[in-house]
Amino acid sequence: MTVLQATHITRSFAGVRALSDANFTLRAGEVCGLVGANGSGKTTFARIVSGLLMPDRGELRLYDRPVNLRSHLDAEKARMAMVHQNLSLVPEMTIWENISLGREAVGPVRLLDNRSAMTQAEEAMRSIGVTLPVQERVKNISPDEKQLVEIGKALAKNPRILILDEPTASLDFHQVESLFRAVGRLKEQGVAIIFISHRLWEVARICDRLAAFRNGETVGEMDFAVQPREEKLIIPLITGQEAREVKRKLASVRSEEMSRHAARGPALEMEGVSLPRRLTDVSFQLRRGELLGLGGLQGQGQEEILMILAGYLKGYTGEVRVDGAAHGLRTTRQAIRRGVALIPGDRHKEGLFLEHSVFANLLYPKVSMHRGSFLLPRRRYQEVAREAMQAMSLQPPDPRLVVSALSGGNQQKVVVGKWLALNPGVLLLNDPTKGVDVGTRQNLYAIVSRLVENGTSVILYASDNEELIANCDRVLIVFEGRIVKELGASELSEEKLVVSSLNVEHTEKAAAAAAPGAGTEGGPA
Ligand SMILES: Nc1ncnc2c1ncn2[C@@H]1O[C@H](COP(=O)(O)OP(=O)(O)OP(=O)(O)O)[C@@H](O)[C@H]1O
Ligand SMILES: [Mg+2]
Repeated sequence: MTVLQATHITRSFAGVRALSDANFTLRAGEVCGLVGANGSGKTTFARIVSGLLMPDRGELRLYDRPVNLRSHLDAEKARMAMVHQNLSLVPEMTIWENISLGREAVGPVRLLDNRSAMTQAEEAMRSIGVTLPVQERVKNISPDEKQLVEIGKALAKNPRILILDEPTASLDFHQVESLFRAVGRLKEQGVAIIFISHRLWEVARICDRLAAFRNGETVGEMDFAVQPREEKLIIPLITGQEAREVKRKLASVRSEEMSRHAARGPALEMEGVSLPRRLTDVSFQLRRGELLGLGGLQGQGQEEILMILAGYLKGYTGEVRVDGAAHGLRTTRQAIRRGVALIPGDRHKEGLFLEHSVFANLLYPKVSMHRGSFLLPRRRYQEVAREAMQAMSLQPPDPRLVVSALSGGNQQKVVVGKWLALNPGVLLLNDPTKGVDVGTRQNLYAIVSRLVENGTSVILYASDNEELIANCDRVLIVFEGRIVKELGASELSEEKLVVSSLNVEHTEKAAAAAAPGAGTEGGPA
């Protein structure tokens, strides 16, 4: 049964065409992927379908009847729920309040007492395999937890049509698996799901079909009932070009470059660093010209390591050295001056001034690095901004736009672009490609690897294992605040990363040690 049909949907914003001819069909009990480059119109389409935006032209049909969705309430009456790319949570409210807030609008108003609202919030979270203290305020939880609450909130509405707009961009593989299990269950119940993601293997894995947008237009479809589930067949639909071969830089070539720099000692060191309840005895060295990865499940302490190095987090014990000298960085400004730049993870909280122009955002780090550099000619600033914009292929390429008018992925490009323009000695990347499309992702890593060749040392935390595998010389696995394993370039594989992230080897050993008869091979005779 067709539950949703959209034909010839068109929508502009102040003269900019976001959608020009979008066509899309969704059936009950299926997952249909929606893919396309940053700015291709996916979120705009999702917002039209959920009644948050009106199309300029085109027809929407729900359950075979034409509809005119005037507000999100109309959509919710049709049992439609959306997980927003830029989350819709109220930071000052608790998790359970946010979740029940989403439900008030549905059906006849039924006042819930707080206790049962809390229980229902817990249930909604449990359905995606998550236990969170539902009385915590949303502003105090991490970006991945916020994402999970956003998903829980949509599920609590008991939808028949569910739109997931990049739900996995900040989740690790473990959280993604739980979400996929929930998606599987919803499908069995006949829920129809639109799944938007830039992680193409996810699309290939859970979708039954997919539609691709380019410049606001449906340019292709795939049906996995008859076509193979292969990422490389999806890429040309998105980019309009054949898939580019991305080659891993030979580890041996990299290590030669690194040994050239080795005489100057490590770029950065941590020795016996602990932070109450977050990190325990973390020691490692970042070699000069090395691209070092931090792996592991979400929230194991990777972010804290980056934050300490960037001067954001204090109160740790142990030693941190930059260029062999004690770190002692008290502020991010000091860190930037010493050439340590952090590309932050939560673009809305740490990375951007949303109501300022792209231009102002791109220049901010330059300005804070050189005191008094306001005296630099404006022309020179504009050059810098233009370079950063081109490097990241920003769409639309207009530096005067306010950042909030850009698509999610293009906002992330601004976050990254402004730091790359600094040419830092040490670059700390906190999940930099969150929500960035496949083409730009490749450009970004090409830029990073150029910086590395010129001697910049990089630490990369990525929630996406593929990025660690494709780019790192070495990966440290963090588990419960400790570094539990180091994987060299030749050992990097999805399986190795997953197994090490769960720290199973260690757990198995511990279990074996605890089991009666441990140590005697094959157990008691
Ligand atoms: N409120 C707005 N004001 C002005 N322009 C907008 C607005 N919302 C979207 N746009 C523009 O519409 C186009 C499509 O944006 P949309 O957010 O739908 O892209 P997307 O496919 O979701 O991209 P991403 O993968 O980066 O999330 C972009 O060029 C964007 O700049
Ligand atoms: Mg989007």
